[in-house]
Amino acid sequence: MTKDKSLIAKYNGPISGCTEIPGDKSISHRAILLSMLSIGKTNIENCLFSDDVLRTIKVSRLLGTKITKNNLSLTVEGLGLQGLKKPSGKLNFGNSGTAMRLFMGILATQKFESVLIGDSSLNKRPMDRVADPLIKMGASIKTTSGLAPINILPTKRLKSINHDLYIPSAQIKSAVLLASLSCSGTTVINTKTKSRDHTEVMLRDFSSSIISENKKIHIKGGELTSPGIIQIPGDLSSAAFLILATLISKDSELIIENVGLNPTRTGFIEIMKLMGGNITTVINNQTAASEKIGSIIITSSHLKGIKVPKDLITSAIDELPLVFLAGACAEGSTIIKNAKELRYKESDRITSMIKTLNTFSIKNKEFNDGAIIVGGTITGGTVDSFGDHRIAMTALVASCVSEQPIIVKNCENIDTSFPTFKKTMNLIGMKIREH
Ligand code: S3P
Repeated sequence: MTKDKSLIAKYNGPISGCTEIPGDKSISHRAILLSMLSIGKTNIENCLFSDDVLRTIKVSRLLGTKITKNNLSLTVEGLGLQGLKKPSGKLNFGNSGTAMRLFMGILATQKFESVLIGDSSLNKRPMDRVADPLIKMGASIKTTSGLAPINILPTKRLKSINHDLYIPSAQIKSAVLLASLSCSGTTVINTKTKSRDHTEVMLRDFSSSIISENKKIHIKGGELTSPGIIQIPGDLSSAAFLILATLISKDSELIIENVGLNPTRTGFIEIMKLMGGNITTVINNQTAASEKIGSIIITSSHLKGIKVPKDLITSAIDELPLVFLAGACAEGSTIIKNAKELRYKESDRITSMIKTLNTFSIKNKEFNDGAIIVGGTITGGTVDSFGDHRIAMTALVASCVSEQPIIVKNCENIDTSFPTFKKTMNLIGMKIREH
């Protein structure tokens, strides 16, 4: 795995080709966790091996799980809900908020104590949003003023709850779902906004008694049974960088195959279409996977500014930095509101994008929950990743239209989600190299 400190990107030529992207990060984490908690052996195909997912693999091994890797697949030998072993030391989640939060739901039900730690970015992200509902279930969790490090102590069996989820977060929802597997009754989660539902989809594959109707989820506790095989689709959040690069580059056309097209994740495609993006998706009905998988066909487009609809924010949450950039490349103004959750990601993504667009000479106005971006000419220049993989990759994509090259400092974090980013982007026509 390369550890590039700074990357430089210049416009090279049209974007073209037919490509695939690595496995979905959210689904890879869940596949490993549910395989570990189930009875039986699971083969996980097309698993993502990024730094974040490697953390999940490492922590699962520290808890006694036997995991073997063979090219892009993993074999996990399940331990059942109460088969995890007490780890010999602290559990380090590095930069991965998803891994730390989902493991909180699992570790809260175990008969041993655990200490969860992360890197300096993860230690700034709110953890009480996950601890609170678990404490309501009877868990004994001590955060550090709402943040990591987190201490989880053994308690009696947790009780099922009826919980209103005010923050539209799949991570909180998933932690409660994972904890509820060890409860005797039925847990009910009421959500106001539908967030990504990969945990619900996969729990069904592992024979859990789970019903989701509209915005209400009912789950009964009980052991999981491995389905034997889980197929991970390509990550739409990674594909989004290729999609925007194609839309804003001249004379470009790209096909991306085998991408996850779960409707709770496709907000970015909807937003790009509203901005005038020429994008077609074709669902592949041949796959046996429970998640929708298909191809995306993109051609160069003249983007127009829009007011991003509120109901597309959650399903585009990880792609919103790219929507800021699309706004900078569009004719007119783009308004992004109702996106305060961006301030709690790997960096404060509103501030990170505003600072990036300021360096690129793009006019904008920052709000507490978003921004207005005025389309213009991106000059280029040197920016920082702000310790955030998605900000680094978004800034590099801007080189498809910038007057001058773009240099992004501290890019080693790209490995957290898309280790093959530089290679993939260069193969479709970008020019990114170490600086
Ligand atoms: C994720 C959920 C989202 C997303 C994150 C991955 C997941 O976070 O931003 O990158 O895999 O559940 P929230 O649940 O905090 O919104």
